[in-house]
Amino acid sequence: MSTQTITRKADFPGMVTSDGSPWHYLDTAATAQKPQVVVDAMTRALGRDYATVHRGVYSRRKVAALVGGAEDELVFTRGATEAINLVAATWGAANLKAGDRILLSVLEHHSNIVPWQMLRERTGIEIDVCPLTDDGRIDLDAARQLVGGKTKLIALAHVSNVLGSRLDTAMAAQLARSVGAKLLLDGCQAVPRTKVDVKSLDCDFYVFSAHKIYGPTGIGALWAKKDILDAMPPYQGGGAMIDRVTFEKTTWADAPQRFEAGTPAITEAIAFAAAADYIESIGIDRIAAHEDDLVRKARAELAKINSLRLFGPEDSAGIVSFQLGDIHPHDLGTILDEENVAIRAGHHCAQPLMDHLGVSATARASFGLYSDEDDIAALIRGIERTQRIFG
Ligand SMILES: Cc1ncc(COP(=O)(O)O)c(C=O)c1O
Repeated sequence: MSTQTITRKADFPGMVTSDGSPWHYLDTAATAQKPQVVVDAMTRALGRDYATVHRGVYSRRKVAALVGGAEDELVFTRGATEAINLVAATWGAANLKAGDRILLSVLEHHSNIVPWQMLRERTGIEIDVCPLTDDGRIDLDAARQLVGGKTKLIALAHVSNVLGSRLDTAMAAQLARSVGAKLLLDGCQAVPRTKVDVKSLDCDFYVFSAHKIYGPTGIGALWAKKDILDAMPPYQGGGAMIDRVTFEKTTWADAPQRFEAGTPAITEAIAFAAAADYIESIGIDRIAAHEDDLVRKARAELAKINSLRLFGPEDSAGIVSFQLGDIHPHDLGTILDEENVAIRAGHHCAQPLMDHLGVSATARASFGLYSDEDDIAALIRGIERTQRIFG
């Protein structure tokens, strides 16, 4: 598919710099630009429509449907980070005990590592870490040696935020079932660029964030199987999550409200649903094909550059990480910025992965549905200029 058939830069007011020149935004994996329809939905929700709080029901249904779930299986959170913390603090604390084990992988985002370490402090669970294949995929063959009867949870990134590697979800589900463990998938980088259907993934928990799918910051979602959600104790206490409060005893609301204490992020939820609508209006399959095409082209161009080390598999999803000789990624990022090219330089909240790769940081270019070949050309020009500057 030609990249020209999908590029939607005009939908995005943030895609030009302050002087009106094009901005080559290659940092969608950190946070996606917002289309005008999402901005408008949020403005309307805060203005003309502010009284219609009940529209939250529609938002929940819409966001759940984006990943193939039902509205009573979806909890709104502040983001994917809070969604994982919620699972650790409620399901984890209620179901895991000293000696139980959970399996993570080397490439996890800190938000799928630290909550489990905090749970380990509380409960005495053990954490196993699945290694990666040479090309940067989670090595599920190796994982077979790490799981057993004590493994109660396998929690893995559906798509890596650094390498773009895609999890073999069928194998992950099969592995979890084979030892009777639950499966949590971190879908932050998958939902913007892959068709997600929680039922066919056969996972127990699925988390994602609105701002990565062209929606607002401050809201994300936890999808969980209904029976698991129904059995989970509450997360935070306060208004909206209760059935009846007395000083002697308080009873809880049903899920998902039980996990949403306090006044909900109403405007964010409406804009989250608008982002889901926007993605659907384009079609996730088209977005996936578009980004696959851009990744192929970007990797081919980057591979031609002398002393550039490419990380991750050839078929990475929307994200390409690399190291340019001994030039620090932050220096590269600064020079690219002068060329109106925005990449991300750093550890990308994945320090164990950096240790594994033997670097302190990588340069990362990540695509969205507005990205095109001009962005890749600008990136390559900027890299060549950086090489000239550094001799
Ligand atoms: C793979 C992955 N997991 C989790 C997160 C955390 O998402 P948030 O910061 O929106 O809670 C991110 C965002 O950087 C991510 O890319």
